[in-house]
Amino acid sequence: MQKENRPVIITEEAGVKFYCACGKAANWPYCDGSHAGTGITPFRTEIEKDGNVAICGCGKSAKLPFCDGAHKALH
Ligand code: FES
Repeated sequence: MQKENRPVIITEEAGVKFYCACGKAANWPYCDGSHAGTGITPFRTEIEKDGNVAICGCGKSAKLPFCDGAHKALH
């Protein structure tokens, strides 16, 4: 999963979300099934409350699919 060397901030509603882990989804950061046949599975994530979330775009976060600030070391 690497799209950019920075997070994408999205506004989510509470609930279960599936975020792309293969980097091939056309509607990244969401899974669209493009991982089929790769052996990679999407990040199944429970969003507990409505609000903004920061999704990692660099692939270096230790808390994937969320940004943990690791991208700052890439600049
Ligand atoms: S975008 Fe990857 S850690 Fe922030």
